Amino acid sequence: MSTGPAIPVITIDGPSGVGKGAVSAALADALGWHLLDSGAVYRAVAWVALNRDIEATDEAQLVAACEDVDLKFESSGSDIAVLIDGVSVGDQLRSEPVGQMASKVAAIPAVRRALLDLQYDFRQSPGLIADGRDMGTVVFPDAQAKIFLTASAHERATRRFKQLKEKGEDVIFDSLFSEIAERDRRDRERAVSPTVPADDAKVIDSTDMSLEQVISESKAYVESIMGGSE
Ligand code: DC
Repeated sequence: MSTGPAIPVITIDGPSGVGKGAVSAALADALGWHLLDSGAVYRAVAWVALNRDIEATDEAQLVAACEDVDLKFESSGSDIAVLIDGVSVGDQLRSEPVGQMASKVAAIPAVRRALLDLQYDFRQSPGLIADGRDMGTVVFPDAQAKIFLTASAHERATRRFKQLKEKGEDVIFDSLFSEIAERDRRDRERAVSPTVPADDAKVIDSTDMSLEQVISESKAYVESIMGGSE
């Protein structure tokens, strides 16, 4: 069936604020592989929609935006800059309003379909770490190793609250918690590509773990699957 050995992929899925980004970056760094932050792809479409006053329900215009957005990821060291139409959008992409809009546009099947090829293109030698919600279930179901990270919504809100406070932002814990819970519910209950573990994914509950522990458990799991082949 296959035309040759497929380029290896490791998928890291899970809800928002669970540490997928840090675990993915650590694995990509350790293996020297490429990285796909698929959340940033949906956030970029959301950013374009917000800037062009496209409604979250306007499927035709959203699909057109997916098709004509010029999206580039540029890495320098461990930092990855996202460029939309040649302009670096920096921290704006990580804001909660953009995240909420991303979660809404991501529930539209035609939008998800329009973004598939762009995600497949990241599968380049020597390998790919793909971070998202449906990497192991829909986009790269043939991945060599699949990890699903989870943690209670309260714990994820607490981590995010600390990060934002450290950046000097004025945040209210209760609003942050309810935004996270709302986005979780939408991402988990949608009909297409809901945030659920693949049947063959290793589930790691990080509620009572440090980031270092999650990274080392993920690395150990990948090692146990891939052995000395990488
Ligand atoms: O991981 P993130 O918070 O940057 O993702 C933002 C939103 O994008 C998230 O709420 C749901 C959506 N998303 C998705 O539907 N599928 C993915 N593979 C990644 C993100």
